[in-house]
Amino acid sequence: MNYKKLITERKSVRDYKKTKVSEKIINEILQYSTNCGKLISTIENEIIIKDNNEDKVFDKLNGTAGYLGRMIEAPHYLIILSDKNEYHIENTGYLGEKILLKAFNLGVNSCWITFPNSDIIKEKLNITTDKEICALIALGYDANKTKIINPIQVGENYSKSEIDVVNDNTSFRYKIQDIVYYKEWDNNADLSDLKKMGLLEALHYARMAPSTLNRQPWRFILDDGMLILTIRDDENTSEYEEKIDSGISMLYFELIVDQTIFDLSWNMGKPDKEYNVPENYKIVSYCNI
Ligand SMILES: Cc1cc2nc3c(=O)[nH]c(=O)nc-3n(C[C@H](O)[C@H](O)[C@H](O)COP(=O)(O)O)c2cc1C
Repeated sequence: MNYKKLITERKSVRDYKKTKVSEKIINEILQYSTNCGKLISTIENEIIIKDNNEDKVFDKLNGTAGYLGRMIEAPHYLIILSDKNEYHIENTGYLGEKILLKAFNLGVNSCWITFPNSDIIKEKLNITTDKEICALIALGYDANKTKIINPIQVGENYSKSEIDVVNDNTSFRYKIQDIVYYKEWDNNADLSDLKKMGLLEALHYARMAPSTLNRQPWRFILDDGMLILTIRDDENTSEYEEKIDSGISMLYFELIVDQTIFDLSWNMGKPDKEYNVPENYKIVSYCNI
């Protein structure tokens, strides 16, 4: 899959055609999800795709799931069930978004839908399992095919001819130097240094990850061959949402590094060194680069 193209072109879709996704494509997505690779390979997951006509998911969850209970109406819903583990939510973010990029590669649009907790969704959808519902995602075809194109800002001092100007959809993203620090907190990284280190592209794509309310809560610290991911703890988002957002950004960075430089794997938890990370941020993971 051409991840750079997929990440550039994807967007959250909230208005779907009534047209169903064919059984062949649904099966292809499900098949892919069983062996596409996870953040934590030992965690067991089960993936279900529900048909809204048959299962009335929209009617059952409207008022409960979605921002302020505003459920998204779609022909299908992808649900990720997971065994509980220290990092099973981050793993779900990583796995879910990987499946959504595959779906997008097959022409299928999507949108993550937040929800208060697994038990409420299980009860409303009559799902009985020991596993926890960790993701609820709308799937289908975009009813408004025309995209509004906005160039993502890459920074005034950086020559745009050296990196493709990414044509985004409507949602804004921070500049790379605003979310990447060098060696210490608030010491904004320099784009030409990142380029020399061969990391500019991967960080450019990592910041395009979708996040709850488009908060873009991730900040990266680059230190002696290590990249550390930190995430902001906001009052209006839950721990669940922060963990999903973390998993997705780890995936985006990794996919581009894997395709351009080398195979990368994330270590969950903190490295030995302290980085004066402020109280409202926490270190999620780190990787060697
Ligand atoms: C964990 C998570 C939960 C989300 N929940 C919702 C939701 O309930 N309703 C909604 O309309 N969008 C939801 N979104 C989509 C985000 O608002 C969207 O990704 C963000 O605004 C960036 O826009 P983009 O995906 O089009 O780039 C969610 C995204 C994530 C990652």
